[in-house]
Amino acid sequence: MVVNAFEVSGKIDYTKLVDKFGSNLISDSLMDKLEALTVGKGRVPRMHRFLRRGMFFSHRDLDTLLRQVEAGAPMYLYTGRGPSSQSMHLGHLIPFLFTKWLQDALDVPLVIQMTDDEKFLFKGHYDDQTGDNLLDFQSLTMENARDIIACGFDYNKTFLFSDLDYVGSMYPNIVRIWKAVTTNTVNGIFGFDGSSNIGKIAFPAIQAAPSFASSFPVVLEADRNSNHLCLIPCAIDQDPYFRMTRDVAHKLVHKQHGLGGKPALIHSKFFPPLQGAEGKMSSSNTNSAIFLTDSPDDIERKIKQHAFSGGRETKKEQQELGADLEVDVSYQWMRFFLEDDDELEKIGQDYGSGSGEYWNTGKVKGRLIEILKELVAEHQERRATITDEEVRKWMAERSIVKNST
Ligand code: TYM
Repeated sequence: MVVNAFEVSGKIDYTKLVDKFGSNLISDSLMDKLEALTVGKGRVPRMHRFLRRGMFFSHRDLDTLLRQVEAGAPMYLYTGRGPSSQSMHLGHLIPFLFTKWLQDALDVPLVIQMTDDEKFLFKGHYDDQTGDNLLDFQSLTMENARDIIACGFDYNKTFLFSDLDYVGSMYPNIVRIWKAVTTNTVNGIFGFDGSSNIGKIAFPAIQAAPSFASSFPVVLEADRNSNHLCLIPCAIDQDPYFRMTRDVAHKLVHKQHGLGGKPALIHSKFFPPLQGAEGKMSSSNTNSAIFLTDSPDDIERKIKQHAFSGGRETKKEQQELGADLEVDVSYQWMRFFLEDDDELEKIGQDYGSGSGEYWNTGKVKGRLIEILKELVAEHQERRATITDEEVRKWMAERSIVKNST
């Protein structure tokens, strides 16, 4: 398996990954603590299905953060998106849907970084005749921002920003991080070398900077003496950025900061591509992904033609052995998107035993198609109402702390 900020491939053993990265599995007692501070406060009816089903499975310092929040420390959420394609896909929804739940459940401010600078440095181009395409990434930021806003965040508590616009306020912290991290460290973590453009080597500090509340003097009304704790929800591929951040964090905050400046993290597993439960869904292969812009027909076609089946070759075998649910993409996708636990269990039992209403792949695919058509149509409806002017309002620097507890 390969898991890093630029590549996710192979069959991923998440327990091994946690060992390798040095993060921690979310224990039952941590889950209880989180439930007490969210459901227990009456802000959400139940734990998110991504927690109930172990999709968010790993963390760094979440236990310490929750203890301090319970004792009254201020906190905020930080997540982000690298706008590399016009449309986001279902995999990208995972951290955003979960972050929306966390925002409601903890009643806290949220900052969302759009790394248009990153995507230009890694994927952009320069041509002697036509110049470069830096500004294309800024317009992708606007497009992707509409998808993110459509996830239902609270405007009064959410600040969305493009690095190209907002970098000035973060710059003092970026410079501090540059000073604290060597090129050898960055090369070691991210695999850059002497042939990498210097922006790539500089970029990790820019993804690190929002982990410090003092990068948001207006938005979080914070300075270097603030005690804000930061929690970052993301898939585990982003962890390398924050390992680097945590190593130098103490240099950016005052000595009494509750976590020594370190951001806490909560990591998800990857939403798999259509072709099989390996690697992660990615934008580069359009037949491996369902995009938030796909039509109902696209969704139906892609699932019918491409969703890898764990069903057996013949009817007889299927009825004798049942499907292999672990490798069956349709079933795995339902675990992410079907809210009803009882229905999911029934489908798993029928399909896994080759009997009952959902005894075969066709039936399971049919139900998945219904679920996703509804989800994507609702998303598209919400997105269609979001104008450029509205996006600019979300991206305007303003305080988002007044309306949070
Ligand atoms: P990006 O745009 O690659 O991904 C955005 C978010 O989606 C997660 N993700 C997935 N989650 C589940 N299944 C998948 N198949 C899948 N593919 C992507 C990513 O982990 C990420 O959380 N450099 C970042 C942008 C960024 C960021 C951040 C992300 C800046 N600051 C802070 C998280 C937290 C990027 O290019 O993400």
